[in-house]
This record gives sequence, C-alpha cells and structure tokens, in this order.
Amino acid sequence: MKMRIWVAALGMAALAGTAFAQGDVIAERRAGLKRMGGHMDAFKPVAEARGDVAALAPRVDDMIAWFRTMPDRFPAGSNTGDTKALPAVWSERAGFEAANTRMLGQLEVLKAAATAGDAAGFATAYQATGPQFCGACHRTYRAR
Ligand code: HEC
Repeated sequence: MKMRIWVAALGMAALAGTAFAQGDVIAERRAGLKRMGGHMDAFKPVAEARGDVAALAPRVDDMIAWFRTMPDRFPAGSNTGDTKALPAVWSERAGFEAANTRMLGQLEVLKAAATAGDAAGFATAYQATGPQFCGACHRTYRAR
C-alpha cells in the first residue's frame, strides 16, 4: 500500500516535471531568439559604417552555437503555450531543418568575413541575412 502511494506520487512528479520542462523549452528558445535578434541589431551600425567587423566574430560564434541547437528546441509537444511557432514546424519538419541549415551556412559566411576583417563582405552578407535567412524561416514557420 505504502509502495503504491509512493509510485503514484512519483508519477505525479514526473508529469509535473514534463509540464515544467515544456514551458521552459518555449521560454528558453524565445529568450535565445531574442538574443539572436540582439546580435543582428549590434551588427547593423558596424556593417553600415564599414567598421571593426573582426570585433563581431564572438557574436557570430554565439549565433552559430545557438542555431546548431535550434531544431532540438522545438521538441514534440512544445507547439502549444506561449509560442508563435506554427504547426508547420512539426508537420513540415524537413523544411524547417533545411531552413536552419541554410541559416548556419550564412552564419559561416558572416564568420569568415568577420575573421578576415572584410567589412564590405560582412556588410553584404549582413544585408542578406535578415530577409533571406531569418525571414525566410519566419514566413513559413512563425506566426505574425
Ligand atoms: C529555422 C527557422 C528560423 C530561423 C532560421 C530563424 N528563426 Fe526566428 N523564430 C523562428 C520561430 C519558429 C519563432 C517562434 C518561436 C516561438 O514563439 O516559440 C521565431 C521567433 C523569433 C523571435 C521572437 C522571439 C520572442 O518570442 O520574443 C525573434 C526575435 C527571432 N525569431 C529572431 C531571429 C533572427 C534574428 C534570426 C536570424 C539570425 C532568426 N530568428 C532565424 C524560426 C526561425
């Protein structure tokens, strides 16, 4: 009898744990995406001024590391709650992951330009990044 209560309590704790983790995964991915937006905002004036793009390399590195984890931040079940992710993230998963792979490729272009101190190259890549890589995914996978 005691054992059964203990097992039931454990089951409840596991359920609560799942609910918590789910809310957490949404809050964490949104906070991460905000940070990614912050990096893009920081690139803008430097790109426009053809400034010290080499100093931006650590921000690009943070983006590369973060976008590598992006698909895992949308586990099954994290489609409901305080999220703007569209059902297509899960129903058209291959396209979502392909959009993220293209994002990572573009981040490598930004990284190469930053590392080389190529301000003009960085500016060109930066201008394409928002509409063609962030925006391309948002159009299909994020609600407005
Ligand atoms: C592979 C798809 C994909 C790519 C690439 C992508 N995003 Fe998003 N983004 C999403 C989805 C899906 C959401 C909605 C997340 C949610 O609400 O759970 C989102 C939400 C956001 C948000 C809102 C965060 C919040 O809730 O306040 C910002 C800001 C953002 N993205 C910035 C960016 C920037 C900047 C880039 C490019 C450097 C980018 N995203 C690239 C899919 C993508």
